Amino acid sequence: MNILAFESSCDETAAAVVRDGRQVLSDAILSQADMHAVYGGVVPEIASRKHVEAIAGLADKALADAGLRKTDVDAVAVTYGPGLIGALLVGVNFAKSAALALGRPLIPVHHLRGHIAANYIAFPELEPPFLALCISGGNSMIVDVRDYTDMTIMGATRDDAAGECFDKIARVLGLPYPGGKPMQELARGGGDGKYPLPRAKVAGNPLDMSFSGLKTAAVNLIHNAGQKGEALDRSSLAASVAAAISEELVPRAIEAARRQGRRVLAAAGGVAANERIRGDLERACRDNGIRLYLPPLRLCGDNGAMIGAQAYYEYQAGVRGDASLNAYANLEI
Ligand code: KG4
Repeated sequence: MNILAFESSCDETAAAVVRDGRQVLSDAILSQADMHAVYGGVVPEIASRKHVEAIAGLADKALADAGLRKTDVDAVAVTYGPGLIGALLVGVNFAKSAALALGRPLIPVHHLRGHIAANYIAFPELEPPFLALCISGGNSMIVDVRDYTDMTIMGATRDDAAGECFDKIARVLGLPYPGGKPMQELARGGGDGKYPLPRAKVAGNPLDMSFSGLKTAAVNLIHNAGQKGEALDRSSLAASVAAAISEELVPRAIEAARRQGRRVLAAAGGVAANERIRGDLERACRDNGIRLYLPPLRLCGDNGAMIGAQAYYEYQAGVRGDASLNAYANLEI
């Protein structure tokens, strides 16, 4: 089954063709990150306009790269939330039109379910049940994946996402947007214990996370050093931030796996590209007898292939959209 899938929830416009959930025939992506970099973050209005300009060309490219004609498409899939509402609406409306014009079913896909499904592409043997650590620019959550379309959130951030925390601290340090990768490069050679940064304890659900206190502490530290004219060891600060974020995530993911009796953990989302977090996950999983799946970097960020992968399983479960399909800025997994 060939699924033509669209993703436009943030600042990447993407179209892909995925066969039977696991085989990527094409994966066309146009990132707008450079356009938003001058503003230090994504400008929603610009994102929407750029999606409008790009999406039709990317659909043609995805089909051409796959060596398929429009009539070879069996279904059309699209991210319908969560994300920037104007950006999502571009993909949703384009996909609705494509499904209607081709006379093919429409499959709405949750963005984070897509991130998790990136693992199905990378690891053909991976099947639910497993535990997923979803860490991106807009979300941070630990998800128990009981089946392809049956998931429960075990813990989630109460405020900022892990990626947002990296991005905002990077901005105050004068690094380019998105700040996760530049922060990682800056952290190399830095001492991760030099700057004491807070670790959050969240009342109610110990698997919930919080990153806003950490973000504020790092930002205040930078500003205070500037005001006092003190030299800031930027590398060590970046390393200390990565250590604090990783300590927020990794022990909770391991604890969630223990509670659910899961022996398999899969990472997902842009922040899963972080080398400190990947290293800490590898160590913690090894120590706890958990099999770890870390998708390759190109599948960690937003892409259309992951949406096409998840769409196959949504289709099997009977999920269909129609002309009334809407987009949602917030959407339960
Ligand atoms: O999954 P993604 O591409 O988009 C969302 O769905 O949000 O994630 C983007 C986020 C950004 O916050 C970016 O700074 C972060 O992933 N990121 C990283 C790294 N590469 C990307 N964060 C830390 N370390 C990295 N190497």
